Amino acid sequence: MVKAIAVFPRTKEIRLIEHPEPHITQPTQVKLRILEVGVCGTDRHICALAFGNPPGESEYLILGHEALAEVVEVGEAVTQFRPGDLVVPEVRRPCSDPACRACQAAHQDFCYTGTYTERGIQNLHGYMTNMVVDEASYLHPVPSELREVAVLTEPLTIAEKALVQALQIQARLPWRTNAASSDEPGRGLRAVVLGAGPIGLLGAMLFVTAGFETYVYSRAQAPNEKSTIVEAIGATYLSSETTSVEQLKERVGHIDLVYEAMDAAPLAIDVLRNLHRNGIFIFTSGTSPDHPFNIDTAAATQHLTSKNQAIIGTVNAGPATFQSAIEHLGIFQQRWPQVLPALITHRYPMEQAKEVLLAKPGGIKHIVSIA
Ligand code: BGC
Repeated sequence: MVKAIAVFPRTKEIRLIEHPEPHITQPTQVKLRILEVGVCGTDRHICALAFGNPPGESEYLILGHEALAEVVEVGEAVTQFRPGDLVVPEVRRPCSDPACRACQAAHQDFCYTGTYTERGIQNLHGYMTNMVVDEASYLHPVPSELREVAVLTEPLTIAEKALVQALQIQARLPWRTNAASSDEPGRGLRAVVLGAGPIGLLGAMLFVTAGFETYVYSRAQAPNEKSTIVEAIGATYLSSETTSVEQLKERVGHIDLVYEAMDAAPLAIDVLRNLHRNGIFIFTSGTSPDHPFNIDTAAATQHLTSKNQAIIGTVNAGPATFQSAIEHLGIFQQRWPQVLPALITHRYPMEQAKEVLLAKPGGIKHIVSIA
């Protein structure tokens, strides 16, 4: 048996449980010892029973989808991993519909049917447990020097996928087509990141690295630990308590890209109204039912069309973005050695996971240490 943190939807409990130890049953599988798992808003939604489902007949769902693990055993057909290697597993698994072109092309992050599964979220157990078995094709190797920060890979993949899409949309402008493949594809553009949680801050690091002049717009007044990180990476922090959306627009000048990671729809819509011509607005957080809002749809579509704007939503991430996230963590570590460790507020033992999941402790990223 292994230990696991599980949510029981029927009895509305979250508990540390004993779970049968998994074993390799296919030659393409890998057995992993989980080292660390990040806690995010999705986990808290699942604990509030607003989201997620246990697999099959199971009465519980093992939580956790942001993992760092160590290979302990490989199936006969696995040649790319050895025991001792560090890996980050993907979250989403394809649906079984042969007509789903996205899943058939290993891009289940764009699944058409919605019947994909997600580890720790949707119909598959997650990683808050000592041992798991996974297909080698869903694992990404991590260099050992990233051991302390690689648990941040999965949240960074959200920004990676957003950036790839933003650059593809930018490339519709004939004079920017070549910029997309340059070293600093964002040079000459201004990005506003909404929210200074882990997804926002990792996104800001990525946009700065891509050459964008980057602003982070978040609630708390500066100075605070988040604004300190923002300034350390060469971006500008603005608090929504002291800077109105109009002042934000004046300060930034042209808002070419908005990366929303805030879960505050009314504010996001205000910023959307101030998006520049040919601008792109990317939603990553969805909008929680706690923040209902109304849009004047006629005015909104008028804005969109007369200014050539694009609004997109993005979720999850594909294999290439996991790889680029791991590479970028290495680049961030070299460029700003203090910053990634500062995103990790605290590491908790499994025995305290429930408290972290239920309370919302301050700080930035909370991690459950498994091994
Ligand atoms: C995860 C994604 C997942 C999404 C929806 C997020 O917290 O990072 O991988 O697709 O939740 O379930």
